[in-house]
Amino acid sequence: MNRIPVVAGNWKMNKTPAEAAELARALVSAVGGLLGVEVVLCPPFVSLHVVGEIVKGTRIGLGAQNLHWEKSGAFTGEVSAPMLAGWCAHVIVGHSERRQYFGETDQTVNKKAKAALAHKLTPIICVGETLSEYEAGETSEVVTRQVWQAYADLNRDEAERTLIAYEPVWAIGTGKAATGVGANAVIGLNIRGIIADLFGSATADGLRVLYGGSVTPANIVEFMAQPDIDGGLVGGASLKAPDFEAIVKAAAQAKA
Ligand code: PGA
Repeated sequence: MNRIPVVAGNWKMNKTPAEAAELARALVSAVGGLLGVEVVLCPPFVSLHVVGEIVKGTRIGLGAQNLHWEKSGAFTGEVSAPMLAGWCAHVIVGHSERRQYFGETDQTVNKKAKAALAHKLTPIICVGETLSEYEAGETSEVVTRQVWQAYADLNRDEAERTLIAYEPVWAIGTGKAATGVGANAVIGLNIRGIIADLFGSATADGLRVLYGGSVTPANIVEFMAQPDIDGGLVGGASLKAPDFEAIVKAAAQAKA
């Protein structure tokens, strides 16, 4: 199965719109025409417009970092799928920081994924175990449950329109990335394996699964060398144009 790599930059709560524009311009000149990889920039909501204008007509795509599952209503501070649909094509769903600090659960992740799909957005569904779950040997169980519940009631067509990111929480922003082999094992067994159980092996083979957690220009090659890893969800290193450029180019090269 020939899966085109994806590298998504999760800018988190960083950069003013002016700073976001500057970074986007640097990335357009660095990788805006690169073939063999899909690049998605996920700035804060307030910068979607300005970054969208800058990447328009290039090969770089745009994503949001979150959404609400309702279409509209009395949900102060929230943004819905139909609102995003005019702006971007991707949206991160269930990032561990959303789960940890904003009370997101497997159930809300499922509702958000469905809302995104209903409005033709590609959800980047995040899963991954915490440090204590990792230390207790519960990785398999946790990731299996998260995948199972995120995809509850989705049909095969919908499942095929998703991306998954495996992000061990202990590796996010810590500088302690997983090993390529370790991440590949979880992705093969507990992500692709569960998707195969739910939707069949053709869907599982076609699904693109990213690794996230302290991805750098130095370690991306190790991750991309793994058979079940199709790209990266990059936080810290996505804020520095030269680092993100190097990661994107390495990802394109790895599966060329
Ligand atoms: P990091 O973040 O690359 O800074 O570890 C990754 C993420 O949270 O998506």
